[in-house]
Parts: sequence; structure tokens; C-alpha cells
Amino acid sequence: MSKLIKFPGLVDVHVHLREPGATQKEDFETGTQAAVAGGYTQILDMPNNTPPTTTPQTLEDKIKSAKGRIYCDLGFNFGATAGSVQYFKEVEQKVFGLKIYMSQTTGPLLVNKIDDRDLIFKSWQSQLPIMVHARDHIVESAIYLAKKYNRKIHICHVTANQLSSIEKAKKEGLSISSEVCPHHLFLTIDDVQRLGPLGIMKPPLLSKKDKQKLWQNIDKIDMISTDHAPHTLAEKYDQTSPASPSQGGPKFGVPGLETTLPLMLTAVKEGLITLERLTEMLCTNPRKIFNLPNQQNTYVLVDESPTYTISNNGLFTKCAWTPFVGLEGRGKVQKVVLRGKTIFENGKFTGKSRGQVIFPQI
Ligand code: DOR
Ligand code: ZN
Ligand code: ZN
Repeated sequence: MSKLIKFPGLVDVHVHLREPGATQKEDFETGTQAAVAGGYTQILDMPNNTPPTTTPQTLEDKIKSAKGRIYCDLGFNFGATAGSVQYFKEVEQKVFGLKIYMSQTTGPLLVNKIDDRDLIFKSWQSQLPIMVHARDHIVESAIYLAKKYNRKIHICHVTANQLSSIEKAKKEGLSISSEVCPHHLFLTIDDVQRLGPLGIMKPPLLSKKDKQKLWQNIDKIDMISTDHAPHTLAEKYDQTSPASPSQGGPKFGVPGLETTLPLMLTAVKEGLITLERLTEMLCTNPRKIFNLPNQQNTYVLVDESPTYTISNNGLFTKCAWTPFVGLEGRGKVQKVVLRGKTIFENGKFTGKSRGQVIFPQI
């Protein structure tokens, strides 16, 4: 007999929907469809677009273009640069987080200079988190600045070697949270041989030992975020198309919205995490930490029994591939209900897009 699990809508605070600038990879429609098909009802979009979301105008353009086209609720994060600090006050009421890239990434948003980083932390006076992209021990500079200015920070795509610094800062009373991505929980550097460019992202896949350390410390990590970062297969395999002007090699990033729940439900079956804790990481904690609005009468029904091999078939993401091909998935999203209306049932969208653009209520 099949058993149904009822989740509140899943939440992902770290998604790259690629609109504007790279709609060959994804757009507001396909990205939010992928989200709903994966069980998500509320997601936050990242600012590393072309042009980047670093001015009130680029933010307004996103809001305007998303309206009426999105299948789940969608909020935005703002991009931090030395030039965008002048707009922080103005956009504070409209975004859920400020994203700062302190290490190499896709797009032009790298903030390398210490003075610029200091100015950004000083200038962001909102109660909402500064979301930090920082490789390895660069995370310590973010923690230092968060302490200096008493800011709330959220460490994106945490790696095993960052866990102790985060724990220490938490114990010292800093308002700090962290997220872990499914690719770091289910893949390692050994998979890169098989996956080639499809196994390349930032931060990169690491050793089996690093992966195990993440699982051992899963109870200390606040949430799971996909870092859904679609690129077309053509772009991934094109060695002449650099991720940013200074970098060669394939574009960084992998899609993840449609595979997170099946992978995590497999982990539940294997005893790596409890269903209760998974619900905290996928629903309750991100909602709390990012002050996301409540969604009345919104839930996801998942048939937990089917197990299957993850494949590229039937994905809603425009990029149409997943790095998790061949891994075991468990559970099927049977129905997604948003504000009392069934929006997705048995693999199909029912009716029109009913998502809303959301804003912080603080
Ligand atoms: O792998 C990544 N992809 N890491 C990032 O920081 C950016 C993202 C993207 O936008 O492609
Ligand atoms: Zn990142
Ligand atoms: Zn990202």
C-alpha cells in the first residue's frame, strides 16, 4: 500500500532562474515549474544575472516580468557590490537577502577588495541575512565582518571545512545560519570523471570524506538549498565559453529543484536523516530564518513508496538534465496545493500560474 507524506510547501532560498539575460538556460516560467514539480511552493532568486540585480531598476524589472508567469511564490535576493550599497535602504523592503560573492562564481559579482566587503557589511542594516558565497576559509572574513557590524549572515553551500568556524560563531552568539546543497551530499570528486563538465560547480565536489563529514554534521546545518544553477548542455560542453571573462573551462553549476526531495527521501530510508529533521531543513527553518510569509492552506502530498533511478526524462527545468542520473530516488510528488488550489497533480500542471511575487513583512 502506498503511503502519503504531507509536507508544508518546500522552500528554497537559493535558486538561479536566469531571467533576464540567460533565458536559454531557464526562465521564470520553467524555473518555477521545476520548483513546483519538485514540491517547492516558495523560492528566492539570486542576483547574478546579466544585468545583475544590483539596482532598484533591475529589481523592479524582475518583479514586473515575473508577475503572472510564476507557478510558485517567488522572492528576490539583492546583489552586493561597492556600487550597490547606495541602494540598500531603498530595496530593503523588497528583498529577502543580500548576496555577496567573496569567491569566484558565475557572473560579474565577485567582491574581492577588503574595503568593499567592509563597506557592504557596514551598509546592510536590514534584519534579513547577508548570504555569503565564500570558498573554504574565506568564510572567516565574512564571520569577522558580521561580528564587527552585528549582522545576520547565512553561509551558502557549506563545505565540511567551514563547519567548525560556523559552529564557533554560533556559540559566540552570532546570528549565523547555513545551508547544504544536495550535490555536496550525494556526489564526490570521483563522480566528476563520469560526469565531466556536468559535475562542475562552485564550490566544487570534494572527497568522500568531506561528504561524510557533511552527513555526520547534518543536524548542525540549518537548511537544504539546491543552488539550482542551470546551464544548457551545449554551454556545459563548450570549452571555449568561459564562466566569466577571466575563467576558462565549463560553466559552473547544476540544476537541483526536481531531484532534491527524491534524493533526501532515499536518505531518510537509509537512516541518514529523520523525516522530521528533513521537514525542518526543507520547510520550517528557511521560512523562519528568511522571514518568509506564511502560505495558507498550502501543502505537498508525496507518495513515499516508489523508488526509481533518477534520469533526464520528464524534467521541467529548461536545461533538461540532472547531474544525479543513475542515483536512486524515492517518492513521487503527487499533488501540490497552493492557497487551497491544486496547481500540480500526477505530473501535470492544472490550470494557470498562481504564484505571487513575495516581499518581506518586517
Ligand atoms: O556553481 C555555481 N553556479 N556556483 C555559483 O556560485 C553560481 C552558480 C551559477 O549562477 O551558475
Ligand atoms: Zn554561490
Ligand atoms: Zn548559487
